[in-house]
Amino acid sequence: MNVPKHIGFIMDGNGRWAKERNKTRTFGHRRGFENLIDILKVCQEIGVEYVTCYAFSTENWNRPKKEIDYLMKVPVEIYKKYSKKFTEKKIKINFIGRRDRIPKATLKAIETTEKDTENGSSMVVNIAFDYGSYNEITTCMKRIAKLVLNDKITIDEIDEKIIGENLFTFGSPNVDLLIRTSGEERISNFLLWQIAYSEFYFPAVYWPDFKKDQLLNAIDIYNSRNRRYGAVKEG
Ligand code: FPP
Repeated sequence: MNVPKHIGFIMDGNGRWAKERNKTRTFGHRRGFENLIDILKVCQEIGVEYVTCYAFSTENWNRPKKEIDYLMKVPVEIYKKYSKKFTEKKIKINFIGRRDRIPKATLKAIETTEKDTENGSSMVVNIAFDYGSYNEITTCMKRIAKLVLNDKITIDEIDEKIIGENLFTFGSPNVDLLIRTSGEERISNFLLWQIAYSEFYFPAVYWPDFKKDQLLNAIDIYNSRNRRYGAVKEG
């Protein structure tokens, strides 16, 4: 089995999963969070080196307050319940996204978790939180403009490598396999630069039901694809 080096997850369908069970959307996210922890374990077991998961988008602020309040608490829960485990398992956690709109306690949990896990060498997990690609690319352009203005680089030196180094995902390779659960087949402002040559997989199951079997199945399908990167391959 050729295991993708970097898997992206759009963890969609928590709300519908909960609705089908007459439960609140927050209940669905709670289950979704538990499932994320399970899936990360499987990813590490099978040798995935980088995972990026979409936890809260720059547009998700338009959701009901209760739901936002819960999602803002998840990084605190990650810090309290999992930071130590991640450190032991050598998992490095990065939060990618805006930092200027999230509550203080959430920000503190994010920064502490990142600090605690910074030496993790087994697997990198990027949690996209108040993340949107438009914002990431805008930020990247501003950073590069500053490098030029400060005479660190010339305009002609701007290349794909410099762009990659100024995106929030710096340090992670581009995504090999992008999985969006729940049957929706769109990207929703997620990692637009980093998925240029990704394989896409859109299983119908809601995120809380996306288990180890489905992940292994997704990897089988990924293995059956012929990645050509714009070239021609024999056979
Ligand atoms: C999309 O489902 C899911 C989200 C917007 C949030 C995903 C969050 C988690 C899985 C919890 C983990 C959180 C963190 C911070 C690590 P939806 O609510 O759009 O579902 P629906 O389309 O069925 O309504």
